[in-house]
This record gives sequence, C-alpha cells and structure tokens, in this order.
Amino acid sequence: MQFPAEFLGEKLASVLATYGFGSPLPELLIEPCADPRFGDLQSNAALILGKRHGREPRMLAAELAASVGATEWSLPPEVAGPGFLNFRLKPDRCVSAFFSLIGDSRLGIEEAKEPQRVVVDFSSPNIAKEMHVGHLRSTILGECLARVYRFLGHRVTTVNHLGDWGTQFGMVLLGFKRHGEEARLEERPLEYLEELYQQIQSAAKENPAIREEAKAELWKLQNGDPENLALWRRFIAASQVELSRLYEELGVHFDFTMGESAYRDQLPSVVRDLQASGIAQPSQGAVCVFFPDDPELQDKPFLIQKSDGAYLYATTDLAALRFRVEEWKADRILYITDGRQRLHFQQLAATAKRWGLPVRIEHVWFGSILGEDKKPLKTREGKPIKLRELLAEALRRAYAILAEKRPDLPEERKVRIARAVGLGALKYADLSQNRNLDYVFRWEKLLSFEGNTAPYLLNAYVRIRAILRKADASGISAAHGPLREPTELRLVKLLLDFCPTLERVESESRPHFLCTYLYEVARAFHRFYESCPVLQPGPHPGTESVGSQRAARLALCQGTAATLGTGLDLLGIERLEEM
Ligand code: ARG
Repeated sequence: MQFPAEFLGEKLASVLATYGFGSPLPELLIEPCADPRFGDLQSNAALILGKRHGREPRMLAAELAASVGATEWSLPPEVAGPGFLNFRLKPDRCVSAFFSLIGDSRLGIEEAKEPQRVVVDFSSPNIAKEMHVGHLRSTILGECLARVYRFLGHRVTTVNHLGDWGTQFGMVLLGFKRHGEEARLEERPLEYLEELYQQIQSAAKENPAIREEAKAELWKLQNGDPENLALWRRFIAASQVELSRLYEELGVHFDFTMGESAYRDQLPSVVRDLQASGIAQPSQGAVCVFFPDDPELQDKPFLIQKSDGAYLYATTDLAALRFRVEEWKADRILYITDGRQRLHFQQLAATAKRWGLPVRIEHVWFGSILGEDKKPLKTREGKPIKLRELLAEALRRAYAILAEKRPDLPEERKVRIARAVGLGALKYADLSQNRNLDYVFRWEKLLSFEGNTAPYLLNAYVRIRAILRKADASGISAAHGPLREPTELRLVKLLLDFCPTLERVESESRPHFLCTYLYEVARAFHRFYESCPVLQPGPHPGTESVGSQRAARLALCQGTAATLGTGLDLLGIERLEEM
C-alpha cells in the first residue's frame, strides 16, 4: 500500500517537475517533522532548490504550498522557519490506512517492483589476527543492511571477503615451522596465529635475515609449494571454525565465505586486461591506474602490481569485483569497512567505471568506537579489545542486571534473556549511531533501560506482548474502532512511517534511521498507554460502545508490537516474550 510520506513525496515531485528545476531533486523530499507540534511530515525541498537556483526559499516554499494544496492525505501545507514545508495528515485517512495494514504480516510493505541484485561484502577480517572491536561495526552493520535490503525485496548475497592471502602468512608459516604447537592451533587458532605473527615480526626487527626468510616462505606459498599450501590450508580451516562460532553467536550469516585467496589465479589477467584496454599503465616498473580526468584522484594512482611483480589488495578487489558482476550479476555492491579505506574504494569505483562494469559501488564506511578517553577503545593494558571478550562481557553484565531485577526467574531463563539483552544492547549501541561518526562506548549507557537503547525497546515490546496475551486469554480481540485521542493518533501516524523509514535506511545504508524510528514508536506507545487504558477503557462520550474502543486500542497494540518486532528482527536483535 502507499504510505503518506511516499504519497506526499510523489505529489511534491510532480509539482516540482513543472518548475523545470531538472534533476537531481533533493534526495529526501519528505521526512518526519523533528517536532510533531509543527506537523507530521516536512520537506526542505524549497531550502535546497532555493539555494541551488537563486530563489528566496520562503517565497518558493509558499508557491509550492499553494500548488500542493490539500490532498487526500493532508491539509494544505504550512511554511515555517527559513522555508520548510510542514504537512499535517488527516486523522481519518490515517486511521483507516492503519486498520487496513495491521492484518498483513508485512505491515503493508510491498517488495521492490524492480528488485536489484545486491552484494553485501562485510566483516571480512584478516586471518592470523583475532577479530577485535573494530570488526564489530562491519559485522553488525552488514548483517542489518542485508536484512533490510532483503525485506524490501532485493536479491541479496552476503559475502565474507576474508583476508586469507596476505603477506602475514610468510611470518606465520615461518613461526609455525620453527616452534609450532599443534594443540594451540586447534584450541584458539586466531589468537595463536596472531601470536606467531608477532613473534616473527619482532624477531625480524632485530635480525633482518628473518624477514628475508619469512618472505621466502611467502614466495613458496604463493608459488604453490605443497608443504606451505597444506599448512596454510590448516590455518585457514582452523580459523574458520573459530570465526563461525563467533558469527553464530552474533546471529550473522554469510551466503559465501570467499576470501582473497579465491581470486589468486585471476590477478594476472586483471592486470593484463586493464593494461590492454589502456586503463592501467606501467610506471617505474610497477603498474598503476591513473585518473587524469578526476580532480580528486588526479594525483592518486591506484597501484595494482608492484615492481617486484607482487599483486595487492587493490588487484584482488578488482578481480572480486569482476567476478561478482560477471558471475553473480551484481547491480550494487556494498563494502562495509572503516573510514580509513575511503580512498581505496573511491579508486576502485573509478576504475570499475572506466572498465565498463555496470555496477553501483557503495562504500558504507564507519568511524571508530572510542573509549571514555575519546581514543580508540582499548583494554586497560592498551591492547585492542577482542571481539569474543567483548561479547562475554556483554553477557556477564546483562546477567548481573537481570539477576538483580528478576531474582525470581529460573536460572535457564535468566541466561537466555541476558544473552538477548546483552548482545542486543551491544548491537544496538552500534546501529543506533550515525555510522560516519565515532562514538564513545559506555556499558552503563548501552545497557540502560532508559533512553535510545536495546533494553528500552525490548522492554516496550515485552510489555505490549503481555497486554496482547492477556487480551487473548480474556477472549478480547482487536477490531476496527474509534481512535481519536492525540496519543493514539500520534502512534497511528508513526506506524504509517515504518515503510518510508526502511526506504530511508536503504537509500543511505544507515540503520540508525531505523533505530531512531523504533525508539520514537516505543516512546509514543508509552505515552499512549499512560493516557489510554487499553483493556479497561473508561466511559467514552459519544455513541461508540466501550467494546469497540477497547478493540481499536488493542489493534494499536498489535500494530505496535508487529512494527517493533519486525524492526528488531531487521536489526538482528532477538525478540523476547518476557524480561
Ligand atoms: N580485510 C579487510 C580489512 O580487514 C577488509 C576487506 C573489506 N572488503 C573488501 N572487499 N576489500 O581491513
């Protein structure tokens, strides 16, 4: 079905079309009003277009308001501030739309008419290193975006582009050959390989001959030496077992785990192809792609083969890109990494364009997780925090809170709930931030039951589910009925913004829009619940029976639970029935 934000967006776009401003139109034509006192939805189109075309924004806004006028969904828009258009929705229209969508398992959200093949490349840790807190963001963001795109009807392929073929293996091979311990490799492969790597690394600092030895091991591996290949295979297999455990704990799924090594045979042909088509050129013995026509990249060539013949991270990404376009028919590829790789992906996208690959490349980059001292989060000893330790700590802390709040719960349920709350809180802390910003990590904040947190959302969900169960037990069912109270209408209108919110998440690959939205829904629900008794409504003036009002409010509870529940699913946070 069509939602008000979508309807008004199209209406406004059609009015703007008559102005001949051309495209691009402002990306988000319609969004929720920051302050509901001023309206339900707003547009800053007049501000953006006014500036772009030298028109006074308030005058332009007034013209647009007059052309839009009243619609089936809205009263005539008002101009506010420097040139915002504010829309108020018609309550009756919203209430009837609300009742038409609550019975639907997808809440009226249709699948994309033109589904795209979207590849989401995320997590992708380098093996021979433990996953640390930095990998959390990529893993959590990637999983959430994959779920949202899929829910909207796109054909999503998720892939873990493991760093399994880098220079670190020279060191690791040498270390293992010198003093490898089988048992430790089996027990904690990632930690152990990292340790071997560091041992050789520091030995090489003292003694350059060791660096040469490690290089020789790498050369042998990359040139098919059976012994080194067999060892490398064991390192990878053992590491994957450990990684899978972590992913399983996090509820993260990959359709493919295809590391850098998967493309190793294709690297020579990538370089040859790019050279043959004049996109890459030799430069001081190396091979580079130059971007003379791109002001930003003019002096930043993309190195794809070193002068000693070695290939690079870039070469592998080009091979992977070609594979994903040719074999998977990818229309869009999302790469989820931290902001330090921005230049790399800019160069990759620019190369892809010249290569004629018909694909949209999006670098979904994120900032750092900071400690209280505003520096990247570290342990007290100054080491990076390991992901598995962070997860364990989340569970421990959530359990302690639960043990205090609900001593009555049987142990097994306490553990289960603590898991959902602890992991949910950790994920939510990440997802609820604008990904481009750094954020300060505070356990107290993310585990708090107040504010924009997972415990707050889960708590709201649990309360509504309890109401629904109680209603069910008393044989009361939800049905069409009057909804007129301001807190009821506010909730109705918010629930009609779920689909547009998901589209906003999609258009910018920013899950925090969804978090902010769910938080608003949960808050609006609490306000509604405080002012409108659901199961025992007081006498209501007018002709409707008490029963029909109760049924309508119950429907509102149902719609809220369905929206929050679906939202939690998309964030990858486990729903709870009690807490
Ligand atoms: N392994 C890389 C790292 O840990 C991330 C890889 C991201 N994906 C890609 N196709 N380059 O920084």
